[in-house]
Amino acid sequence: MRVINCIFVTFSICLLSSCSLPNSASSPATDAVNSQSSALTSLSDAYSNYFDIGAALNRTQTSGQDPQSIAIVDKHFNTLTPENDMKWESIQPIEGQFTFEGADALVQYAKKTNKSVIGHALVWHEQTPSWVFEDDQGNEASRELLIARMKSQIFALAGRYKNDIKGWDVVNEALNEDGTMRESKWQQIIGDEFIELAFTFAAQAAPKAELYYNDYNLYNAAKMDGAITLAKRLKAKGIRIDGIGEQGHYGITPPLDELELSIQKVASLGLKMMITELDISVLKFPEGENMGADISLNFELQDDYNPYAKGISAESNNKLAQAYSDLFALFLRYEKEIDRVTFWGVSDNNTWRNNWPMKGRTDYPLPFDRSYQAKPFVRTLIKQAQL
Ligand code: G3I
Repeated sequence: MRVINCIFVTFSICLLSSCSLPNSASSPATDAVNSQSSALTSLSDAYSNYFDIGAALNRTQTSGQDPQSIAIVDKHFNTLTPENDMKWESIQPIEGQFTFEGADALVQYAKKTNKSVIGHALVWHEQTPSWVFEDDQGNEASRELLIARMKSQIFALAGRYKNDIKGWDVVNEALNEDGTMRESKWQQIIGDEFIELAFTFAAQAAPKAELYYNDYNLYNAAKMDGAITLAKRLKAKGIRIDGIGEQGHYGITPPLDELELSIQKVASLGLKMMITELDISVLKFPEGENMGADISLNFELQDDYNPYAKGISAESNNKLAQAYSDLFALFLRYEKEIDRVTFWGVSDNNTWRNNWPMKGRTDYPLPFDRSYQAKPFVRTLIKQAQL
């Protein structure tokens, strides 16, 4: 199978004409969603004694063009993360030109509906425009220039929302699977110290916000050990880090035992643990079902890898329900250590999973289906919290 090194595309984004979002959207479509789920307790209410339950929102939703999703979000989630709208390429696509419309829309909606906001992500090697790493001659930026750009981005973004954002994914995906530092442009030009700098600038720009390291596959012991080393390094230098986020992009058999050990490791360091981007794919993957979330990987679509284009099998549906139930049972056992569980999206029709690592698949990773109906396992998750 041929690997194409290119960025995948998910769904089209609507341009924001106005940033106002209906507080509680009401239309025939949303009324249908509300009446369908009215008998259902809210997920975040059910888990309110344990941890926050959130969702990532995209521009289609925050621009008010997906009221059915917003009706679900109004009811079921109490913390929101922008799926893309606070990434560097969204905020400062061209040097000095800041575009906060998408980010503002999400923050305004969260304020109106009394939900917390998690910022994602200040420093990441992906979705960062190439100009960031170049000087005005097109040569590689010097260390000083890159540090200055990092500082100005963090102050502009984290500073703007310093009273609005509960916590920031300060550095995203800086580790390899074996726990060593990823050789990203940040690491190559600045050195490992880019981590210390990012956390220092974030603490200065948003003193009240919690600061997190976020990555995928942190259930993998070697990778989590790398994150722990990184956190200890920061702490030893008196630099604040408040938590570690395991993204939680899993296959149909989540790695429960490894995940449990990784939660224990984070807790033993006195840090908060968050599951920050939860979804469970029912599809198979060229590199194994828990292949993580390296978005630079892209494979040609093959029918064999897209078996449920016309509907999911009962067997896979049952496995999905079981996987979610097992995961939430684990989260509940560690509710003192876990601060938040955020799903990476709302419903199956609008998830990056349909396009990674192959564009155009039909996946079923989220708690709400393509008709915006709660899947039966949502009721089970609610019951588990009420036992
Ligand atoms: O904004 C452009 C738009 O202008 C253009 O018309 C359109 C079509 O080409 O593309 C739009 O950008 C896309 C963007 O999503 C918004 O839809 C990018 O191509 C696409 O690569 C991007 O994908 C996102 C991906 O991160 C890369 O930023 C996914 O939606 C998002 O779910 C995914 O999220 C990441 C987390 O940030 C980090 N952890 C892994 C997770 C899943 O990959």
